[in-house]
Amino acid sequence: MTDTPASADLETERFQTVRVDLGSRSYDIVIGRGLLEEAGARIAAVKPGARLAVITDETVAKLHLDAFSKSLSEAGLDYVVLKVPAGEASKRFELFERLCDDVLAARLERGDAVVALGGGVVGDLAGFVAASVRRGMSFIQVPTTLLAQVDSSVGGKTGINSRHGKNLIGAFHQPDLVLADTAILDTLPLRDFRAGYAEVAKYGLLGDEPFFTWLEDNWQAVFAGGPERDEAVARSCQAKADVVAEDEHEAGRRALLNLGHTFGHSLESA
Ligand code: GLY
Repeated sequence: MTDTPASADLETERFQTVRVDLGSRSYDIVIGRGLLEEAGARIAAVKPGARLAVITDETVAKLHLDAFSKSLSEAGLDYVVLKVPAGEASKRFELFERLCDDVLAARLERGDAVVALGGGVVGDLAGFVAASVRRGMSFIQVPTTLLAQVDSSVGGKTGINSRHGKNLIGAFHQPDLVLADTAILDTLPLRDFRAGYAEVAKYGLLGDEPFFTWLEDNWQAVFAGGPERDEAVARSCQAKADVVAEDEHEAGRRALLNLGHTFGHSLESA
């Protein structure tokens, strides 16, 4: 993990950067408290001149859209906002179709970017829109749940659900940038924080005993916020980045990251 300056104007001291190493499709995951304030500047540094379609849900919009929009405007970025209802039911064909049409109606081109501002549902849905419109647009993830920050926003899995099961329609489409503001998690219901924490613990269980032990000593501080939370998110993202760099399309080792998911998804379907 390094503190890599993205541009001279950006504050790098407060934030950690994890690189996902995928050759010409490599990208940074930037992590830290208060990152939303400079999201616009960071997006502009990675995608200069791009127009944006910000896809978010009603719940996240109420809490964070004003701050996010302000930072986009301050960076001189041109954007449209597309909202979907909160919840898993939004990962369906009808909304996917509507969003694709809305992005085209806004006249965004392939080099423009779809931005996911939300949790795993918004990230998966927006990512699949980005993968599909004009055969693949740029994509930026701004995950707002712990689960999305440590798992679903990283690694390029995108998609929607089918009546045959969860995540059965989609594409691998890597983002160009992931911005994980850990202060946003202060507004997350405890139940959702715990769901994300299970993914953090997963990285310890998958072969990183020192991290698992560290979590046993520091979990309260991770829940409370502060540097331990940033550390837990960064170490989780590094673990995931290592696996994705080795097995992007889940031909082998990446399947380990589904620990708990397969059972959980079946339970949800039932
Ligand atoms: N959530 C598991 C993976 O991204 O591979």
